Amino acid sequence: MTDVLFFNGRWTTTDERVLGVEDRGFQFGDAVYEVFKFLQKRPILAVDHFRRLDRGLSEIEIRNPWNESGFLRTVDALLERTSFPDGIVYVQVSRGEGERAHFYPDNMAPTTLMYSRKFRFPDATKKEHGIRLITTPDLRWKQCQVKSVNLLPNAIAKKRAQRAGADEALLLDEGEVREGASSSFFVVKGGRLITHPLDEHILPGVVRDRVIGLAIASKIRVDERPLRETELFQLDEAFITSTTMGVMPVAEIDGRVIGNSRRGEITTRLQRLFDDLEVSEIAQQSRGAAV
Ligand code: PDD
Repeated sequence: MTDVLFFNGRWTTTDERVLGVEDRGFQFGDAVYEVFKFLQKRPILAVDHFRRLDRGLSEIEIRNPWNESGFLRTVDALLERTSFPDGIVYVQVSRGEGERAHFYPDNMAPTTLMYSRKFRFPDATKKEHGIRLITTPDLRWKQCQVKSVNLLPNAIAKKRAQRAGADEALLLDEGEVREGASSSFFVVKGGRLITHPLDEHILPGVVRDRVIGLAIASKIRVDERPLRETELFQLDEAFITSTTMGVMPVAEIDGRVIGNSRRGEITTRLQRLFDDLEVSEIAQQSRGAAV
């Protein structure tokens, strides 16, 4: 698939084989990434994604090649060159390229790339009926707050889900529910929202953060605490959140139906509020562009 690609400061397409075999992102998974959405050529929550990228890079001591305004300018330039209005942007920054060795020199020149791609976001039917989950052990490393490209455990978990006829895998560890293989996880119990607290066990999801804000603003109580595995089957509602899925109801976990098998009331409310937030992001940027 030919897509517009920004690679180390120049413009090309994904048809060009740009990456060196000794790039540390390729050989060591020594890189972080981001995925964000764009609608009508407007990036959605790009600043939140930039800030998470910045924190992740700083935690693993890779120099951020961008400051916030430089990042947003690159995103704008990418979307100007993109021929379709809606899709996702993939961003990756690795420590750089150098002779293969576990020891790395300080101050390597990072490898920086960004490309846009078409994406089929869930339609109204999917958003109403939701998805199926399976549970599976969390085999990831102990720094899950860093959005590193070491996604093998996530990919294996997803494949298991797919083989079981499900859409997403829910990762369990030490008797607790962490998050989805590529999503944050929420449940509703007795009118309260429960989701894992921010720590090294989960990625600080951009949508997770916004949904918590929307819930609090709507006077829905939010408990940020780990959910015991045993609590999974005493739920009123469950949903996942992610950049590509938004707020997505969970219909089943390990073949057991959640709630009364229909999209729950609180899930529906938060799904609408988050969809509205995306729309207002676009409107705000359009206004900004007009002045
Ligand atoms: N995944 N948890 C994990 C492990 C994820 O990979 C993701 C996102 C999320 C949700 O984060 P956000 O709300 O910022 O999208 C939570 C992206 C979409 C991906 O890997 O493609």
